[in-house]
Amino acid sequence: MPTTMDTFLKFPENFLWGSAVSGHQIEGANKHSDWWHWELATPEQPESGKAVDYWNRFEQDHELLAAMGHQAFRIGIEWARVEPRKGEFDRTAIENYRRMLASLRRHGIQVCLTLHHWVLPRWVAEQGDWTNPDTVEQFLRYVEFIVDELGDFPDLWITLNEPMVALLAGNISGDFPPQRRSIPAFRTCSRNMLRAHAGAYALIHKRRPDARVGIAMAYPYLEAWGTPGLRGWYERRTEHFTRTLLFRAWDRSVHTGRLHPFFGKGKIDGLEDSIDFCGINYYFRMSLRFSLRKWNKGFLDIDSIPRGVETTDMGWQIWPEGLAHILSEVWARYGKPIYITENGIADADDQKRPGYMTGHLKQIHTALQEGLPVEGYFHWSFIDNFEWKEGFSMKFGLVEVDPADPELKRTPRPSAQLYSRIIRDRGFTSS
Ligand code: FCB
Repeated sequence: MPTTMDTFLKFPENFLWGSAVSGHQIEGANKHSDWWHWELATPEQPESGKAVDYWNRFEQDHELLAAMGHQAFRIGIEWARVEPRKGEFDRTAIENYRRMLASLRRHGIQVCLTLHHWVLPRWVAEQGDWTNPDTVEQFLRYVEFIVDELGDFPDLWITLNEPMVALLAGNISGDFPPQRRSIPAFRTCSRNMLRAHAGAYALIHKRRPDARVGIAMAYPYLEAWGTPGLRGWYERRTEHFTRTLLFRAWDRSVHTGRLHPFFGKGKIDGLEDSIDFCGINYYFRMSLRFSLRKWNKGFLDIDSIPRGVETTDMGWQIWPEGLAHILSEVWARYGKPIYITENGIADADDQKRPGYMTGHLKQIHTALQEGLPVEGYFHWSFIDNFEWKEGFSMKFGLVEVDPADPELKRTPRPSAQLYSRIIRDRGFTSS
């Protein structure tokens, strides 16, 4: 029941409302990929299997998206499907992607297309993944192929999804394949991914001068815990360092074209200012707390939750205010249009998702009032999916699917209806 204190938060007419997924997480049977083989070879790692079989069920999903009023969909292409063996491009895969994209167009849904979302073909992994400079050339050949074949469809292009997350998890923490723990490998891979992005940016623009190309970056909001004394000083220093490591070093390199010292020295051709918009993936706040017990993690406890702060099923802090900080930082650095390319919550019983969504949209609304050019919002995720190390246990979907159900029935959660109303009304009432 609205009260006099309630206000309607109206979004601009041309604000783009959508949701996001990635190929490996929903398509199923991505058999020629590094992740697929790693899942099979790693006992404690859940398998993606048929996922939610989007590869075969996309038509039904697009009908649902259209019925839910979504105006845009962020999907990914899997390099491993398109080029399952070095130099061999698979026509049936590309035709399926073409049908997928044409179906979105038929339903009047705009496309945001991700070219690389963490997963590589197995043959690329076997040749040393991003440590091998050949991977850059081969990636660009794949991108060229996609631009030639499917370049008509995307309204927005994303070259890389969360490169720093993949670089750190694959080379430093050892959480993701190839599970290295090597600073030199991290630096080499970072340089090669920056080169891959710069090359892809140039290539897409050469063929499609009007294309809008960006990167979807993970921007957690970092905050020192606030312990008094020397420990507090350490927390603040590490806050600064971690922020640089997680996104500022990358952003500075992309903005200036010059490698941040974390990655190496010198310039990368075509890197400077090589984005047309900023893609922000925002999920949580991370509090950095000094802890002697965490001596093997740089004396930092990143899992402590300040009293009174709600968390998601992932244990992530719900902190919409952090998005406001990230928006102003990104705007100050690049001065480019902004899309929220991911924002969402693991919440199996759908109790917190409505508040999570409106809380973050409220921050976006405030940023818009302040004149920041935020042009759209993609909720993560349209549908429950394979959440990497967590497998199917984490439920990020507006639409629920039980991976054990042979029918893989799609059931929109109540929050899916809330989102549809927000899209229809171009806003919502907030107290
Ligand atoms: C992001 C990833 C995405 C998904 C969400 C929950 O870091 O880009 O694939 O796993 O987290």
